[in-house]
Amino acid sequence: MKSLAGDLHLEVGAALAPPLDREHGVGRAEIRKVLKALEPVLPRLLAADAPSGFLRVLGRRKLGEAIIAEARRCAQRKPRDLIHIGIGGSSLGAEVLWRALTHPQHNLLPDSRRPGPRVHFVDNVDPDSLGSLLEWVDLRHALVHVVSKSGGTVETAAAFQVVRQAVEKRVGPTWARHFVATTGRGALGALAREEGIATLPFPEDVGGRFSALTASGLFTPAVAGVDVGPLLAGARRMLARMRSAEPGHDPAAVAAAIAHRMETAKHKPIHVLMAYADALEPLARWFVQLCGESLGKRKGRGAHVRHVGPTPLAARGTTDQHSQVQLFVEGPPDKLVSFVRLQAQNRAVEIPGAGPAAYLDGVSLGALLEAEQRGTAVALARAGRPSVTWELPALEAGALGQLLVALETQTAYQAALLGIDAFDQPGVEAGKIAAFALLGREGYESERAAIEADAPPSWRI
Ligand code: PA5
Repeated sequence: MKSLAGDLHLEVGAALAPPLDREHGVGRAEIRKVLKALEPVLPRLLAADAPSGFLRVLGRRKLGEAIIAEARRCAQRKPRDLIHIGIGGSSLGAEVLWRALTHPQHNLLPDSRRPGPRVHFVDNVDPDSLGSLLEWVDLRHALVHVVSKSGGTVETAAAFQVVRQAVEKRVGPTWARHFVATTGRGALGALAREEGIATLPFPEDVGGRFSALTASGLFTPAVAGVDVGPLLAGARRMLARMRSAEPGHDPAAVAAAIAHRMETAKHKPIHVLMAYADALEPLARWFVQLCGESLGKRKGRGAHVRHVGPTPLAARGTTDQHSQVQLFVEGPPDKLVSFVRLQAQNRAVEIPGAGPAAYLDGVSLGALLEAEQRGTAVALARAGRPSVTWELPALEAGALGQLLVALETQTAYQAALLGIDAFDQPGVEAGKIAAFALLGREGYESERAAIEADAPPSWRI
């Protein structure tokens, strides 16, 4: 398949050996070998009985239409504020898309210049954050999107109850009209049906961190004014590119092959995603969750247990050049850096090169940003540190849809190479159960007793 002007590209030359030595770079033959091992994986991911439907869901066009229709219905009521309640995968995808595809100052624009409501993410149970938000928002004109696949996540359930009570207090018995729930068959779905809350389906075969391109990630940005059609079209295009690619031309597979060899053969257990655009800061956090929760796993049993998975780190250029880059260039050589950069920004801002900044005359901020990204890649390469670069032609929906699908598929490929399940999260479940036990929830008494018996000694200073 020929690449198009709007396509995402991956540049991997700076991770190869040569030019890097074999201790730190991946040889072309090594990559070919891993790509061979990956050949059956994409068909398996697309099979009807695949453990996750994150790619298959892109073919369910009716789901996309339902999200757009519901977003239009809600937008017609002209809400001024949209509160998105969810956590982990039920929040990050929406935040990525909202932040990247709306005006950079979306929430500060006057109503007349904003294509949709201000957006607020409630992804924690910090009383100062939620309490102050509820003091500030006029709940008579608010819409609440609550997202939980299981319908039982304690943080989401708690925030939902707090917001529901506040809305009911303000508007009375019509409170449910201010809510949309994206959820599965759990308690939230049952409650929504009982109370008459509009619902969108959370696809049963897609897990939270792979759900950015379902209602979980799409509905909030759609109400805020994002046209989600091109986003889904971009996602489908990446899938088509991967399906038709010759070996060595599927960007997700090549990225996975390099990341896998870095982790397992080149002593690089840390994978940094460094995005050179403020609007992609949530993308780096999304990647951290995707990679951490999908690949950080206990593998095997008994004496054969191994603990695998790269440690993901988020960084933002240029800001973190004055923070983490010193560590990346001169600290332990234990990192692969994946840059994300834009070929062009949406705005041109020229720098008036005067006085000591005369050398900047005629340079734009975009050109400076680009030079700094390239400079960081060069500094890493000179220090023998590998990097790859994802390059988007611009910050626009189609290319972003391609990037999300590429990074999700890269993660699924890496899991296949590690021989682990990318789609479960037993470690997260363990924390949830312990929290219920500590809250004294009925049914968790024996867990609580076990926690108390195992409590570490206290040394409190
Ligand atoms: O990626 C995941 O599976 C998790 O981060 C979940 O999204 C998170 O735990 C929230 O779960 P739920 O959507 O069931 O509330």
